[in-house]
Amino acid sequence: MCGIVGIAGTRDVAPVILEALKRLEYRGYDSAGIATLDHGAIDRRRAPGKLNMLGAMLHDRPLHGHTGIGHTRWATHGAPTEANAHPHATAQVAIVHNGIIENFRELNAELTAKGHKFESETDSETAAHLVTQLMSEGLAPDAAAKKAVARLTGAYSIAMIFKDHDGLLVGARRGAPLAVGYADTEAYIGSDAFALAPFTKKVSYLEEGDVVVIRGAQVTIFDGEGRPANREIKITSASAALVDKAGHSHFMVKEIHEQPEVVGHTLAHYLDPAGPDVRRQGKGLRDALVKASRLTISGCGTAYYAGLVGKYWFEKLARMSVETDVASELRYRDPVYPENGVALFVSQSGETADTLAALRDSKAKGQTTIAVVNVAESSIAREADIVLPTYAGPEIGVASTKAFTCQLAALACFAIAAAEARRTISKGEEKVLCASLLEAPRHIAEFLKQEPAIKILGEEIAKVRDVLYMGRGASYPLALEGALKLKEISYIHAEGYAAGEMKHGPIALIDEAVPIIVIAPHDAHFEKTISNMQEVMARGGKVLLISDKAGIAKAGKVWASIEVPTTNSFITPLINAIPVQLLAYYAAIAKGTDVDQPRNLAKSVTVE
Ligand code: F6R
Repeated sequence: MCGIVGIAGTRDVAPVILEALKRLEYRGYDSAGIATLDHGAIDRRRAPGKLNMLGAMLHDRPLHGHTGIGHTRWATHGAPTEANAHPHATAQVAIVHNGIIENFRELNAELTAKGHKFESETDSETAAHLVTQLMSEGLAPDAAAKKAVARLTGAYSIAMIFKDHDGLLVGARRGAPLAVGYADTEAYIGSDAFALAPFTKKVSYLEEGDVVVIRGAQVTIFDGEGRPANREIKITSASAALVDKAGHSHFMVKEIHEQPEVVGHTLAHYLDPAGPDVRRQGKGLRDALVKASRLTISGCGTAYYAGLVGKYWFEKLARMSVETDVASELRYRDPVYPENGVALFVSQSGETADTLAALRDSKAKGQTTIAVVNVAESSIAREADIVLPTYAGPEIGVASTKAFTCQLAALACFAIAAAEARRTISKGEEKVLCASLLEAPRHIAEFLKQEPAIKILGEEIAKVRDVLYMGRGASYPLALEGALKLKEISYIHAEGYAAGEMKHGPIALIDEAVPIIVIAPHDAHFEKTISNMQEVMARGGKVLLISDKAGIAKAGKVWASIEVPTTNSFITPLINAIPVQLLAYYAAIAKGTDVDQPRNLAKSVTVE
């Protein structure tokens, strides 16, 4: 998603903004730009493509000035061209914007009638002209900005600078996050604290409807009613350390390798190894779980698939009635929420627009809301009644890997906690489940040693056009996740199916050219999944089996197999995630795609 940086500074800010934008690259973007005030006049540079294109442009034609805004754009309205890139500007004002202004057509018509000429196809340019119009009617820049944002509908965050007003920076938040950074002689605006971390650790977060007016280092925040508002200044945990790949060729593979450590951190938060048992949860959570008439689980993409694995765990262990849906559907289908219901949302970024909206809706409808979230200061973390953090650390690769396994780790612990609270498992069972979870980091580390063999299989997969994944029980969401991972970074068409569904249609796709990746742990579902695998092989299907030693021995001859460590079947989703991630990674490498920033994708999806 788009990234925003603004600085009211005491030095030439363009190079500094460029560096801060690099820290937002992980969000995904397809053009970028910076505007500064040079002796009071707005000057800007914009370039389609990656930040090095903008960097080269700035090298040839540097921007001067101590006040500036920068932006990475993920195209929504209009192609990623220079004309559509931000900042959008008139002679009076330059703006950068993240999100969607829904009423831009009406506003453009009104402004066109007043003589404004638009140069881009974006909704964002509207805001620049609206502010300009209001200033031409006599309003001061900050008053014009406040009045303008009050007229915009949609979900967005925005930052602006104004001709002849050095040191003045105005920001606004509605629906998309915006952080304010504080220092002795400068102040900052950024899409997240991570972008601001090299400048300051002192940040506050704008709330819905807030407008911030920065004059030099002086920061004033106004709420949606225009009243001065106090927003707590926090010391952020975001690291100022340069985000580096630690010797790996991509963030994605670095993050795959971090999994033993970060899954271990996440488990350590929820499990007491001395028991081993789950650390007792707060009374609020325990009561909610005991009383829960139903659990609704939601999220988007990979986070949703983690939730889907959770469904199997909550049903089996805690005997809870569980409903799952993707957030973009859940929020719009007017679901019937029960009394004493609990709604659980899974999100890495904590800013996904659909997930946040579904959380708000379920909360308004009386559900106790719980968030499994990786960014502690995010909107979802702040708005949920109860937060279950994951400790994956910043995930930079657009394709989620370590966040997924940490979500699984947190959900597994939470399912055990629910079962314990509802007395649906014995103390002995709790110990066995916790002990097996605590072994997961070791098994993941052990499995990672097979990376060279998986690279070769990934290279084979790279040669094909379509791939099918299948699994049963908790391996079904893994099949969905495997297919998503492959398609998003290698652009190979892939679909995941419940193994039992193959013969209800998808089996028609089977021929020698379509590999089928079968995820079949040696568990209660093994025989059934292997029967489905045989049906596929009988029709010429080329099977790559992911299973443990016993499973591979029993399954007989297949095209290829990946042996995962033998574990308690409870934790197999955590282990089987690793081969599907590595297969996708090496298929993408073989195809030469942009693994960390695949085309068309954004890391944090703050638009619907
Ligand atoms: C896929 C991927 C996405 C995200 C989804 C939700 O690799 O990363 O499918 O899982 O956009 O994002 P979060 O978890 O930030 O809510």
